[in-house]
Amino acid sequence: MKLSWSSERLGPVAFCRGRVQLAALLLLLAPSTLGQCIAPSSFPFARLLNRSDEPEFPIGTSLLYECHPGYRGRQFSIICQPNSAWTSAEDKCTRKRCDTPIDPENGTVHIDEDIWFGSSINYSCNTGFRLIGSSSAMCIISGTGVAWDNEAPICQKVICSILQNMTGIREELKKKYYYEDNITVECEDGYTLQGSSQSQCQSDANWVPPLATCVSDF
Ligand SMILES: *[C@@H]1O[C@H](CO)[C@@H](O)[C@H](O)[C@H]1NC(C)=O
Ligand SMILES: *[C@@H]1O[C@H](CO)[C@@H](O)[C@H](O)[C@H]1NC(C)=O
Ligand SMILES: *[C@@H]1O[C@H](CO)[C@@H](O)[C@H](O)[C@H]1NC(C)=O
Ligand SMILES: *[C@@H]1O[C@H](CO)[C@@H](O)[C@H](O)[C@H]1NC(C)=O
Ligand SMILES: *[C@@H]1O[C@H](CO)[C@@H](O)[C@H](O)[C@H]1NC(C)=O
Repeated sequence: MKLSWSSERLGPVAFCRGRVQLAALLLLLAPSTLGQCIAPSSFPFARLLNRSDEPEFPIGTSLLYECHPGYRGRQFSIICQPNSAWTSAEDKCTRKRCDTPIDPENGTVHIDEDIWFGSSINYSCNTGFRLIGSSSAMCIISGTGVAWDNEAPICQKVICSILQNMTGIREELKKKYYYEDNITVECEDGYTLQGSSQSQCQSDANWVPPLATCVSDF
């Protein structure tokens, strides 16, 4: 008996509280879900031209954008639609492309994915050639367009050095020895060969086996 009385009294209070909560919830949700678009997140390819830090915008609002340098495209707008979504900004700006790089003489250019703004390329030289310059380049903004930030390197034939003070050698040596060249060391009378009489110039500019010397017998 007592229980039913108390529940009758509490009943309308609980019901009333529920309606207040529902109304408050609708009020909270209203600005973002009913008739508004929340501020769009920034695009990596474009800059907002309107000066605005509003958290949300009414339906029909248009926001004007400009493609970043490095991207091709005219100014464009996105519009807050009745479904509270912005119209798409996809494909409004397309990345600019750098010149197609060419293989250096006696070397190769390596293109990873593409040669768009932001892309990187690498260069390598054929075996026996030394890379002079930069081994990579990036497509960056240059003036009103895009360009590689480094010139293509040069691939220079590897040279193995010979000691200038080599004495006691029978024959005159060549001025320059390149990759894969052989050298034959023969000693004059009164000198003894130390090491292997023949060596070959390697791609890392070393002699294998190491260059022999002629050591004076006296
Ligand atoms: C943004 O700028 C454009 C061009 O000036 C204008 O048409 C548009 O109404 C502006 N939008 C807002 C939200 O100010
Ligand atoms: C290096 O390049 C030059 C010029 O293109 C060519 O004549 C030569 O055969 C190349 N050498 C090698 C080892 O690829
Ligand atoms: C270029 O070299 C870097 C560092 O060695 C490497 O991470 C990258 O994948 C290379 N890219 C290409 C296109 O070979
Ligand atoms: C040649 O000169 C270098 C340094 O000047 C010295 O270390 C080397 O021992 C010399 N070699 C000979 C064969 O005299
Ligand atoms: C140098 O010698 C090696 C083996 O002795 C030979 O295979 C090679 O062809 C020679 N290189 C040159 C440039 O003559």
